[in-house]
Amino acid sequence: MSNSGEDFQVVTRKKWMARKCLRRRDRHKSESDYLIDCPDVNVEKFQPRLETLCADMRQSDYFLVAIEALQQQLVVLRKPLERIVCLGLGPFSRTYHALHQAAFVIELQRHHKIKEALYFDPVFRDSEKELIRMFDGCLMSEDCAGKHEATVPTLYYLPHCPYALMHNILWSNWRRENLPNVFLISNSFEMLTMTPRSQDDHITRIVEHCKETTLEDDYEHHNVFNDLSLHTFPLESLPANDDEVFWTRCAPLKVNEDELITEAETTFAALKLDSE
Ligand SMILES: C[S@@+](CC[C@H](N)C(=O)[O-])C[C@H]1O[C@@H](n2cnc3c(N)ncnc32)[C@H](O)[C@@H]1O
Repeated sequence: MSNSGEDFQVVTRKKWMARKCLRRRDRHKSESDYLIDCPDVNVEKFQPRLETLCADMRQSDYFLVAIEALQQQLVVLRKPLERIVCLGLGPFSRTYHALHQAAFVIELQRHHKIKEALYFDPVFRDSEKELIRMFDGCLMSEDCAGKHEATVPTLYYLPHCPYALMHNILWSNWRRENLPNVFLISNSFEMLTMTPRSQDDHITRIVEHCKETTLEDDYEHHNVFNDLSLHTFPLESLPANDDEVFWTRCAPLKVNEDELITEAETTFAALKLDSE
């Protein structure tokens, strides 16, 4: 496995903290500052590093099992995947979670020979956008907040994303003929709905009609692929078209800023920077 784990990243972050004269008790506060402050990667140097990680990813048990789970659900649909939409990948030149997730989604695109892979995350820097293009991805021109229609069979990859993004994907595809085109890898709906929400929403409504396949996290780096599931919506599991209560749409959700700040802080992990 390429050296992109946590071990030697710590040294770099320590250096950064020393430079900033940050004391131990201020560390938590420093984490989001670090993401903003850390220097840009050299794209030419970073590209082969990500390529090596992709090669490792292809051979990992985690990837092979995930590919198999997806394939089983595609057989049900009897159509190939035509598009990937990746939201909330995170700052993948700066955190190892996002970097390994990037390798996963790139390999998935290659495995299924998918031409169109769209990405959006408001945190992307220009260097990260350039890397996405180098790996045959495209940047969405604007923030759709998860409002994206699966006009063709589409894999939505939303690792550890705000609830509203998954919700709004369902909201955009809330028709019996559209939902079977949605293949969604995100935090487990079963887990997300364990705590009842005060208002009706699409995740709560669909949970008993969707097929959830847990993607067992046996990956060698921790907290990269935890709690993720593949969610699919086979036609035969969905309520009939005349179930008006079910098919009447709720309001779309706004991405909650507090949720984002908390999540960004708790998922912090600094990467070794190529420039050092
Ligand atoms: C908890 S982080 C997950 C990052 C990474 N995938 C991980 O697992 O560590 C949630 C991500 O969602 C992104 N995000 C917030 N609003 C978004 C939006 N409207 N569209 C796409 N991504 C968004 C944030 O910038 C952040 O990178």
